[in-house]
Amino acid sequence: MTRNPAKLIPADFPALPGLDFLEGVRVISTPDGGAEALGLAVFEDGDVPGQLELSREALTRAGFDPKVGKTLVVPRPSGPDLVAVGAGKRADLDATGLRDLAASFSRATSRREHVELVIDHEFADPAGASQALTEGAVLARYRYTPLKSERKDVPLRTLSLGLTRALDAHIAKGAAAGLVSARAAVIARDLANTPPGHLTATDIANIADRLGPRFGFDVEVFDRKALIELGCGGLLGVNQGSAEEPRMVKLTYQPQGAPSAHLGLIGKGIMYDSGGISLKPSDPMHLLMKMDMGGAAAVLGAFTALRDAEVTANVTGWLMCTDNMPSGTSYKLGDVLVARGGTTVEVKNTDAEGRLVMMDAIVLANEEKVDAIIDIATLTGAALMALGPSTAALFGNDETTVRLVKEASALTDEPVWELPLEQKYRAQLDSAVADISNLGGKYAGATTAALFLSHFVGETPWAHLDIAGTMQTENDDSWRSAGATGFGARLLLQAASAFRR
Ligand code: BES
Ligand code: MN
Ligand code: ZN
Repeated sequence: MTRNPAKLIPADFPALPGLDFLEGVRVISTPDGGAEALGLAVFEDGDVPGQLELSREALTRAGFDPKVGKTLVVPRPSGPDLVAVGAGKRADLDATGLRDLAASFSRATSRREHVELVIDHEFADPAGASQALTEGAVLARYRYTPLKSERKDVPLRTLSLGLTRALDAHIAKGAAAGLVSARAAVIARDLANTPPGHLTATDIANIADRLGPRFGFDVEVFDRKALIELGCGGLLGVNQGSAEEPRMVKLTYQPQGAPSAHLGLIGKGIMYDSGGISLKPSDPMHLLMKMDMGGAAAVLGAFTALRDAEVTANVTGWLMCTDNMPSGTSYKLGDVLVARGGTTVEVKNTDAEGRLVMMDAIVLANEEKVDAIIDIATLTGAALMALGPSTAALFGNDETTVRLVKEASALTDEPVWELPLEQKYRAQLDSAVADISNLGGKYAGATTAALFLSHFVGETPWAHLDIAGTMQTENDDSWRSAGATGFGARLLLQAASAFRR
């Protein structure tokens, strides 16, 4: 492993601190008397829970609003703090609301290790409710702290869920599922939050190698030499300026029994995007370019959950990992790269590198004859400009695959919005010297990037997620903790779970 000695990275530097945190959380359905804070859901309609010993008027006078996302902590001389937790209208409470409600409770009690949340409600799907509550409570408490000498927050250790009128078995099943999907997101966050010097392409490949046997998938790592043999000219071209080797990481999940279908997942893994010879200016946005591997992180995170979520499809993943650096050996504007399969690509901008690493993987996925491809990439600033930091851009060539992603998006509250794959703009990618160029015109940058990918996809059912906007959040936002969001990890897991031929 190549590591800069000047950073003095200790040998025991925790690669996945969030995973350690998550594995320290216990979710129980029978209170053990150890709760330091007791949250009680207060709906807009119906009675205020008696345990609060407060009337609705008193709560209102104290400034409490029973909307989802609002809380009021009532300290007491002894016993656990009481927390009124806004739950909105009973009829409106869905998984998204439950996740948000649990997140607000979890944040309100962020100095407490052992917390209990009681919701007096008739749940149509108690396991689903328990899953959403677990996800919200755990993900809200995520923090990336291994490089801080002191940490203020306390890790969550016990979450006790009191869902009245729900069977313990349902609560336990949902909580287990919630911890599995939260694991996918937490691993994706850890990877994207890690500074670029602490996480090279070689490092992420080694991490994948360790995760595979633990969570039930196979890992094959391709180094520079292997990539030359495969003819992955895109990944190799982008890597050319770097002192670090590239890595392509192939992940394979096979379910017990006959697979229902075969899904391909491809993630952009630019460990740091300087722009290369088309160097980016040093504005604060470029502090975020350590997260340019957010797509690869989401795919790897999702893989850690496939077995435990009992996904019935075969899933194959490709993480396309390198940094994009300027140097005397960099690929240049005007260079022509040869993709796996022989397509020639004129490089008109070395900062449009994501599509170049993705193209090789798309060709490889097609060679494996997957039934559908979903790719995920922090691909364009244009996606961020168009949809902002809350919603990812979605493109596709197939209604069924696009719908699969939209439904997974709704269930996981990872919002997407479909943009048109406008064929009229395809001519912007024409090249005078090669089969295609990597740069479109001034407008619709997210679309021309998607059109570039679609050239390699061909007829395979395909959906593309541009997560440049959603990869991070500046401030805590419900269960999204400041920093990398892990966007896409839970969505991809859900899509894989629902995938059928
Ligand atoms: N990684 C960036 C896209 C990005 C921008 C991600 C902002 C997150 C936040 C990508 O590699 C890039 O540089 N795209 C260029 C493409 C352009 C040169 C055609 C862009 O969007 O400006
Ligand atoms: Mn770039
Ligand atoms: Zn990039």
